[in-house]
Amino acid sequence: MQVNFSATRPSDARLVAYVANKGKMPEELEKSLTEGANAARFKGTPAQIFESFVERGGHVIRVAIAGAGEPAADNRSLNLEKAGAALAAKYLTSGETHLVLDLTASGLDAGAAASVLLGLRLRSWRHDAYRTKLKEEQKISLTKVSVIGAAEGAETAWADAAAIAEGAEFTRDLVAEPANTLFPVSFVERCQEKFAGTGAELIILDDAQMEQLGMGSLLCVGLGSEQPSRMLAIRWNGGADDDAPTAFVGKGVTFDTGGISLKPGPGMGDMKWDMGGSGAVVGAMLTLVKRKAKANIVGVVGLVENMPDGRATRPGDVVTSMSGQTIEVLNTDAEGRLVLADALHWTQVEFKPKQIIDFATLTGAMIISLGSEHGGVFANDDTLADSLLAAGKSSGDKLWRFPLSPAYDKLINSPIADMQNIGPRGAGSITAAQFLKRFIMDDTPWAHCDIAGMVWADKAGATWDKGATGYGVRLIDNFVRETLEA
Ligand code: BES
Ligand code: MN
Ligand code: ZN
Repeated sequence: MQVNFSATRPSDARLVAYVANKGKMPEELEKSLTEGANAARFKGTPAQIFESFVERGGHVIRVAIAGAGEPAADNRSLNLEKAGAALAAKYLTSGETHLVLDLTASGLDAGAAASVLLGLRLRSWRHDAYRTKLKEEQKISLTKVSVIGAAEGAETAWADAAAIAEGAEFTRDLVAEPANTLFPVSFVERCQEKFAGTGAELIILDDAQMEQLGMGSLLCVGLGSEQPSRMLAIRWNGGADDDAPTAFVGKGVTFDTGGISLKPGPGMGDMKWDMGGSGAVVGAMLTLVKRKAKANIVGVVGLVENMPDGRATRPGDVVTSMSGQTIEVLNTDAEGRLVLADALHWTQVEFKPKQIIDFATLTGAMIISLGSEHGGVFANDDTLADSLLAAGKSSGDKLWRFPLSPAYDKLINSPIADMQNIGPRGAGSITAAQFLKRFIMDDTPWAHCDIAGMVWADKAGATWDKGATGYGVRLIDNFVRETLEA
């Protein structure tokens, strides 16, 4: 979607859109529009659309009015995004190629205009690379948006918001990609292409290097796969020289068959998006780097494929993690925590972060708990948890906090090793979090976000179609804005 700002209405405009607050139509619209909208019960509620045709200067023009709700609503920017997104959803494949967004009498400030555009762009993302037989009417027609009458500074505000869209699109591209094309090595290559020339530093570890570092936990997951494993760190120093970085760590299982503890067949295809945590981390890094965030941050992703094979890890095997702690692998399908154990430890040793936040599609139990409305957050630090909850609210990538405690921790003690990788049936998401906590040193503030229910949508949402949602990018970006750059 190409966005440009213009002083006057392009003469070829056939589709003109307006944004209306609740109960207030844009001024100076034709009577047929104001009365028509009234008759159609258009109220200006978020994402509501009224459409009509009017004659202007001898041409018939399609006019759309998108609702943005109350100007004083506390989730105003999300409502503005919904207005833009509703326009994208309606016109993406309508045959219209060019939308003129007329904000002249909208009263929207620069940030508000950028929010509308962000919603428009986010909702127009699709993954069509493998569709060779799309009918003409199924193809994207809308590729251009011209904004007229925007407030001073809207273009700058949009540049910032466009970085968010780029990050979310990158995450969605990765999440949607099937596992025969997206595996650890190709994941890294895609990042190398995206971050080339941005000023971010990429550090890559291959199997031999991880072996040398003693990452027996991460490496045991990839043993049954023909695909080599990788660790990737993306570093951005936009803050003060002496400020320790904030680390974001992601689970990147590019396909999770369960390994020898093989998953049942139905629905296994979903496990191509078991790299959603790492997708969120690298997408957010792209946003932060593109908008040159004034903060020191590092994104680390552990990339493996979990397959069953003659060399695969067996249930009951004991492995030694980089931290020196030993793990009895009782279930090879609880592999995400094995990957994160070494990724978290290496992150602390290598980057000495002041705080760590990890993202993972870690447990099916989280989907049972929260469905697809909230991700679950676990933390050893209340301030960090509160900041994440706040960023969740402001970004729309919502979180809900879960408990940790020694009583839960006990449940993963092993009779043969320092710990086992599964607990009893109950509290599956919590025991997974307790497992990760054992790899956090010196009480470094740490939070774990289990986003298993969030990275993929079965139905369209406010600013996404069904499929990859891009969850996490907005959350991380807002967390950085609100706590590190404020
Ligand atoms: N990747 C899965 C969790 C998952 C399941 C994410 C469904 C999204 C949708 C994870 O690796 C897994 O298999 N977890 C097991 C843990 C169990 C063996 C303790 C699970 O949740 O069943
Ligand atoms: Mn698994
Ligand atoms: Zn998994």
